Amino acid sequence: MKLLVLISLVYLLGSTEALKVLVLYPYAVKSLSILGTGTVRHLLNAGHEVTYITVYPLKDPPTKNFRQIDISNNTQLLENEESLTIGYVLEHKVPRTDALQMQIFTMESARLTFQNENVKKLIQDPNEHFDAVVVDLVESEVFAGLAVLYDCPMIWLYSMGAHWQVLRLIDRATNPAYDPDYLSPANTPLSFLERVDELWSRVKWQYRKTFIIQPEERKIYEDTFGLLVAKRGRTLPDYEDVIFNASLIFGNEHNAVRDRPSTPQNFKYIGGLHIEEPVKPLPKEFQDLIDNSKHGVIYFSMGSFLKSNSLPKPLIAELLRMFGELKQTVIWKFESDLPDVPKNVHIVHWAPQPSILAHPNVRTFITHGGQLSSIEAIHFGMPIIGVPVFFDQFTNIKKAVENGYALTVPLSHDLPKDLKVAIDVMLKDDTFRKKAKELSSIYHDRLSKPGAELAHWVEHVVRTGGARHLRSPAWRVPLYQRLYLDLIALILASVLILATLFFYIVSSLFKKTPKKNNQKKRN
Ligand SMILES: *[C@@H]1O[C@H](CO)[C@@H](O)[C@H](O)[C@H]1NC(C)=O
Ligand SMILES: *[C@@H]1O[C@H](CO)[C@@H](O)[C@H](O)[C@H]1NC(C)=O
Repeated sequence: MKLLVLISLVYLLGSTEALKVLVLYPYAVKSLSILGTGTVRHLLNAGHEVTYITVYPLKDPPTKNFRQIDISNNTQLLENEESLTIGYVLEHKVPRTDALQMQIFTMESARLTFQNENVKKLIQDPNEHFDAVVVDLVESEVFAGLAVLYDCPMIWLYSMGAHWQVLRLIDRATNPAYDPDYLSPANTPLSFLERVDELWSRVKWQYRKTFIIQPEERKIYEDTFGLLVAKRGRTLPDYEDVIFNASLIFGNEHNAVRDRPSTPQNFKYIGGLHIEEPVKPLPKEFQDLIDNSKHGVIYFSMGSFLKSNSLPKPLIAELLRMFGELKQTVIWKFESDLPDVPKNVHIVHWAPQPSILAHPNVRTFITHGGQLSSIEAIHFGMPIIGVPVFFDQFTNIKKAVENGYALTVPLSHDLPKDLKVAIDVMLKDDTFRKKAKELSSIYHDRLSKPGAELAHWVEHVVRTGGARHLRSPAWRVPLYQRLYLDLIALILASVLILATLFFYIVSSLFKKTPKKNNQKKRN
């Protein structure tokens, strides 16, 4: 009996520490949901109770402390978006993803999410409560309304590194002269024209955000949460106060990346969080294939979002022919079956990427350079050949090239030829691999693993009632004060007053003399 009481006491004590966390990944982008799944996994491992709102519900969901809310409906936004395929980019040479398009996409995703019947059921339930809300941050802050609804801290998880658009929410936007946009191919140090371009694209972004997007987002926020918050006996705070009120932002980056802007105390790096450790063993067919490849393996994957099969057929045939001439085994992740595949080429519809990259017999990784693949390459010390297509891929690959562990090949009709040259260089020159290993050791040299870091900071935020002590003082200081415009105005005004006074005195002195002259003349 005593033992039973003791056990239940321990259980009660333990369970008071378990938090109820709402995790929301609203975007119909598979790679983002990989990050979402990682977040959920670490929170569950830390003993918390997770409600996961996701576009890609887990097929094998955990049975304990977990509930998922299906918003697969959100895929309708991108369903017929032909411009997001490799084939389209190849033909149309899209130079740079349009920021406005991104802003609209994220806002519409928010609208759809809050209109979703499953989500409505959750947020309209007056008995529902959460200790923290963790949301995937892309370009829209309207989801911060959830933290208002549940009267709990707001935590963002940003899928990229520290960046001005994100830092502006908890600190101040960093200077465009050294913090280029994530959609820009420019890396620091910037040339004069690049600096001007960065400044201009920020002005444009801010203008659109302020005058086009934010008023719409405000409306979504008020329409969605006004009544619900009132029902809970509170008044809805102003939208501007809500979006700049996050407790913490996690950034999906790590210390082996150079040229990151400085970050405030409530910005934490958790890059690598999505990689399961220890790495899952390879399925037998992969294990045998890679083990038995005498000359090593080249792994080729353009990620989960880009569809390789949108490439023109002759180009695919040409790639197959080129791969066929190599001594190495080539594993190509491709969505459909292909005819006339050479013996050393293996087309797979799905690949256990981290486990492949972990195998010492894999020599190089041909990738689009998405953020998750880039982190995995560093994690496993794998040199890469980058074929960036859009979004942040250009900047990721450019950084990798500057770091000395990557080569880049432009997406063009000459891809097979250019790729062959890059593969030859990569396989002959061992410095790429050495450099990748060196960065990998920097990456792994840290106090705690990213998953532990995530769980700790979520708990810290909740324990301290929103971690107000971590907030930067900068976000409260208005622009005119930061730029000392008031001081400049004061100096200008003083100079103006002094100059006027001086002019007045001098001119009144001189006025008298001509009068005398006149009088003399008249006399
Ligand atoms: C999915 O979207 C359609 C139309 O946009 C809507 O009618 C339907 O109710 C949605 N499903 C859910 C679960 O919200
Ligand atoms: C800002 O966050 C803190 C901590 O979570 C909370 O107490 C406060 O009510 C929030 N303010 C607004 C305007 O949402």
